[in-house]
Parts: sequence; structure tokens; C-alpha cells
Amino acid sequence: MPLDMAKSILVTGGAGYIGSHTVLQLLLGGFRAIVVDNLDNSSEEAIRRVGEIAGESRENLTFYKVDLRDKGALNKIFSSTKIDAVIHFAGLKAVGESVQNPLLYYDNNFVSTLTLLEVMASHGCKKLVFSSSATVYGSPKVVPCTEEFPLVAMSPYGRTKLVIEEMCRDIYHADSEWSIILLRYFNPVGAHPSGHIGEDPRGYPNNLMPFVQQVAVGRRSALTVFGNDYSTTDGTGVRDYIHVVDLADGHISALRKIFEDAETGCEVYNLGTGKGTSVLEMVAAFEKASGKKIPLVIAGRRPGDSEILYGSTIKAEKELKWKAKYTIEDMCQDQWNWASKNPYGYGSPGSTNYK
Ligand code: NAD
Ligand code: UFG
Repeated sequence: MPLDMAKSILVTGGAGYIGSHTVLQLLLGGFRAIVVDNLDNSSEEAIRRVGEIAGESRENLTFYKVDLRDKGALNKIFSSTKIDAVIHFAGLKAVGESVQNPLLYYDNNFVSTLTLLEVMASHGCKKLVFSSSATVYGSPKVVPCTEEFPLVAMSPYGRTKLVIEEMCRDIYHADSEWSIILLRYFNPVGAHPSGHIGEDPRGYPNNLMPFVQQVAVGRRSALTVFGNDYSTTDGTGVRDYIHVVDLADGHISALRKIFEDAETGCEVYNLGTGKGTSVLEMVAAFEKASGKKIPLVIAGRRPGDSEILYGSTIKAEKELKWKAKYTIEDMCQDQWNWASKNPYGYGSPGSTNYK
């Protein structure tokens, strides 16, 4: 069944890494995108560039610099525009920071989601796609993780994801008019093939590929490998890396289900590739794509890290009709294309994005 192409989607956190790529896919897919972001961990330049890549569809893009905890401002947006569905990316995501400052995470991630859901309910907007995380699987005894695996919070960040998932299930049980899809992402990497948008973390990068990228462009001297004594082929941690454009497309598939299937309910799907890749394999693939040598320093295991984490994608393939297309080589190629064109991300050596 074809979609009504004029649906308006409110995208919280749409200036961020995954959000900006999803906003682009929405515009290219004929949706209207209303981005709400406080630019806490992003730049308005990302939105400008999304508009540039989208060409004529840029007229369907609106941006509000608003914090989700500002209920008045959110209410105004919902009053001025009929929102058909919300994709909720906004949140803080640094696991270590959440351990140091849990209240910040409960306030920013949980309170903002509560505020958003209250505003949605009061405006009769009951369609939601939420960014959950594979972190809710903790350190599973076996892989691949299926959606039925037991859930555990490994950090305050992870607990906010678990609590929000539970809150969504409660809301649906209380009012079956809601359609909610919870997407558990594995490890998004790469960038849009244009090289105009990509990941641009503020400060010290916590994740593997942004760090590798900064070594490649000369902003950092070496990658610290957290542990080479795991029970994996080369001793380093294994993860399910997924191209950010595949991940973005997963949201479009989720939206289609919500709009086309009145029985969506509140469902959870893994978004990954179903394949595991080690740290050293990722580094080798990036070196090949970039032609750059990445010096390594082997260190101890990072506290809280699991050994092997990858997901089963069978449920998403079957019910969302979605499957990741890009390979590890594509991810590294596109990440290098973005990094080499934008060595300082959206900023410059003197800007706040560069530390
Ligand atoms: P990101 O930091 O690039 O994007 C998040 C965006 O939300 C930023 O633009 C930030 O400014 C905005 N934001 C944060 N708090 C806000 C608030 N209170 N009001 C308005 N805007 C706010 O992160 P990302 O990698 O794009 O992640 C998006 C979502 O996906 C997050 O919820 C994250 O927890 C989840 N996730 C990410 C990963 C990953 O590895 N990147 C993995 C699993 C889940
Ligand atoms: N790693 C290094 N050196 C680094 C950074 C990471 O060796 O400088 C290793 C880690 O030890 C791990 C692998 O690279 O083995 C991937 O680490 P990331 O930090 O990139 O990703 P994680 O799997 O630890 O966590 C990410 C997000 C979480 C999310 C989770 C979902 O940061 O928010 O994926 O699986 F919950």
C-alpha cells in the first residue's frame, strides 16, 4: 500500500549523528521532517547540509532549537503543525559519563522522554519510533541476541533505555491506540556516501570508529585497544557494526509499518547486520579504505565491556521488511570519505567541536 507522502514526522535529536542521516532519508522518501534538537551534542551545520543534499526536498525540513524538557515550547510546535509520528533520538549516550553523573542522564533522557510522551498524548499523536540500544542485552551468554533475551541495565544510560522501553509498553497497555516501535541499535558507523554528513563527537571520542578516524586525520596519535585477551579469534572485542544509512533506512521501514499496520502495538526490533567484527578487523578494514596506518596501543579491558555482542536480525527482516545492505568495507570507505573531507567534523581546529 503506498504511503501518503505528505506525512509530517517530528524528529527529536535530528541534528545528531543517526538523526541527521535519518532526516535525510525521510526527506528523500517524501516525508516532511520537523527537527527538534537543543544542539547539546550537535551542530546546526548538520541540518544545513542535510538540506543541501536533499535538494528540492529541503523545503520539507524545519528546525527548532528546543530542549525536549521545555514542555511549553514542545506544545507550541505540536499546536502549530499536525505531527503524524515522532522518531525520538534525542538523548545523551556516553556510558561512562552516565556512571559519573546519573542524575544528568535521568533528567536529560528520562524526563525529556516523559515530557515528549505527555505532549504527544495531549495532542493525540500516538505513533512513536524510539532509539533503544543493544546495551539492554548486557553481556549475553550466547549470541546472536534475539529480542526475547533477558534485559539488564549495565549503566545509568542503559537503565534509561530499559525504563523508557517499559514506559512505552505500559502506555500501549493502557491505550491500544498507540503504535510504538522500539529499535535496539547495535553499533552504527560510517557516514552518508556524499561525505557531507557524518559523526562529529564533541570532545574525546568514546567509540571505536570516531577515534580511529581522528587518528587517521592526525588529531590523535594512536588507538588504544581495550583488551586483546578475550575469547575471540584475535582476542579483541567483537561487535555488530552497521552502516548509519542502513540504520536510518530501518527507521523508514519502522514508520511504514506504523502507518500501514493498525495492529503494530508496541514492538521491539534489533537493527544490526547479524555479523560480528573484531576491533582489529575493523582497524584493518579502515586502514585498507584510507591507506592510513593506525598505530595501536594495547591496554587492559574497558570496565563494563562485553566480549562478543551481535544481534539476530530475523524479526526486523520478516516484520519490517528491512535488511542491512552495506558491508564493513563500505562503512570504512564512507567513514574515510567523510573524515578526509571534514577532518574537524562540522567545526574547525579552534571551535568547541575540537578538543
Ligand atoms: P547524538 O549525540 O549524535 O545525537 C543525539 C542528539 O540529541 C544530539 O543532536 C543532541 O544535541 C540531542 N539532544 C540531547 N538531549 C536533548 C534534549 N534534552 N533536547 C533536545 N535535544 C537533545 O547521538 P546518536 O549517536 O545520533 O544517537 C541517537 C540516539 O540513538 C540516542 O538516543 C542514543 O542513545 C541511541 N543509540 C546510539 C548508539 C550509538 O552508538 N551511536 C547506539 C545505540 C543507541
Ligand atoms: N574500543 C577500543 N578502543 C576505543 C574504543 C572502543 O578498543 O578507543 C573497543 C571496545 O572495547 C569494544 C569495541 O571497540 O570492544 C566497540 O566499542 P564502542 O565504544 O565503539 O561501542 P560499544 O559496543 O562499547 O557501545 C556502543 C555504544 C553504546 C551502545 C552499544 C550498543 O557506545 O551506547 O554500542 O551495542 F549501547
